[in-house]
Amino acid sequence: MAIATSIFWLSLLFVSTKGCHFPAIYNFGDSNSDTGSVSAALGPLPPPFGETFFGQPSGRYSNGRLIIDFFAEKLGVPVLHAYLDSIDPNFRYGANFAASGSTILLADGKSIQAGFSFLSLVIQVSEFEQFKNRTIELYNQVHNAAFPGLSAKTLKIKSRIPRPEDFSRALYTLDSGQNDIHYALISTPKEQLKAHITNATNQFALSTKKLYDDGARAFWIHNTGPLGCLPYFVTNYPPKAGDADQHGCVKSYNEVAQEFNKRLKEKVSQLKTLLHDAVFILTDMYSAKYSLISEAKQHGFIGPMAYCCGHLGDNPVECGKTAIVNGTQVYGASCSDPAKYISWDGIHYTDAANHWIANRIIHGSLSDPPIPLIQACDNHIVTQQ
Ligand SMILES: *[C@@H]1O[C@H](CO)[C@@H](O)[C@H](O)[C@H]1NC(C)=O
Ligand SMILES: *[C@@H]1O[C@H](CO)[C@@H](O)[C@H](O)[C@H]1NC(C)=O
Ligand SMILES: *[C@@H]1O[C@H](CO)[C@@H](O)[C@H](O)[C@H]1NC(C)=O
Repeated sequence: MAIATSIFWLSLLFVSTKGCHFPAIYNFGDSNSDTGSVSAALGPLPPPFGETFFGQPSGRYSNGRLIIDFFAEKLGVPVLHAYLDSIDPNFRYGANFAASGSTILLADGKSIQAGFSFLSLVIQVSEFEQFKNRTIELYNQVHNAAFPGLSAKTLKIKSRIPRPEDFSRALYTLDSGQNDIHYALISTPKEQLKAHITNATNQFALSTKKLYDDGARAFWIHNTGPLGCLPYFVTNYPPKAGDADQHGCVKSYNEVAQEFNKRLKEKVSQLKTLLHDAVFILTDMYSAKYSLISEAKQHGFIGPMAYCCGHLGDNPVECGKTAIVNGTQVYGASCSDPAKYISWDGIHYTDAANHWIANRIIHGSLSDPPIPLIQACDNHIVTQQ
């Protein structure tokens, strides 16, 4: 019995060192991982977005790649296409439902008025459900089609939609909440902040449970970053006396982010208890981003409050746009060396920063349980900890 048990564990360990071979990634979130949803829906981003890696705007809010792009590379699948991008799509290896400006909570007139997206996590999950139903239906139709004349076309369709059996073997990644905090900070009285955060994390758990009910079994979840360190917040909502930390971040905003992360952790623990046959890995994105910000110079970046593109402050000029400042037209240009900056445009991270963060989290040392990305499927190894 004991020998059989240890052979059993040994074989699992052996399997785990080989990684999981996820056939697909399904991603949900905001601009931290939007690879083109909002661009497809509301118009493309202007240059110089994308200038460093793609050579042109790619729908990503950065000069290059996002963390989700580095994940795809690590897992050996092509970069994720945005579900809403209908031009030459390929969903064989998953799809990306993340939308810039989106919250977890369903948007309402007030949040849309304030500039947030209606493509909340709630909507993203319903998009996913439709995507799953319709691609399975299409796959089966094409698979069962017996018309030789259609073969080239059917082969092409089949090569660009997921295998039905891949939905339960895919990795489901989620990075959402930053905009719920942003919206709460600008719209909610202080005494209701906690209630708003609790509503958001409750909805996060409901949406994640829905994905589970739809067959998802491997979840890689990011908590939210230190938004009080984003140059946009520091400039537009500057800290009151005593409310800045030694790096210039606004402490009280970061405390709201940490409150969110505490509630998120509780919710993910509940999901783990409830759903034994799924893997939930919660990655401490806050620590990854905060360590980059607090050790900027050590890692080859100039100060944490510098940003590369556009201009914040009294006469703001958005990255890639023009504005009239003192009667003169001014262009929101980018800096000469984006690789030296953590922040691209005051809100979003540069390709270099995203690369650093991805490397920091991919091996699992900031995750609970501490499982590397490529082993995020292995439930047995997780429970063995
Ligand atoms: C997907 O299919 C299931 C089962 O047929 C159905 O219950 C559900 O309503 C469908 N969802 C969507 C969004 O089409
Ligand atoms: C939280 O959700 C409840 C129930 O939907 C709602 O009544 C309440 O107003 C929400 N609180 C905040 C601060 O958004
Ligand atoms: C615009 O003009 C004001 C008043 O002359 C001046 O203080 C300010 O620095 C100018 N702003 C820019 C961006 O040139």
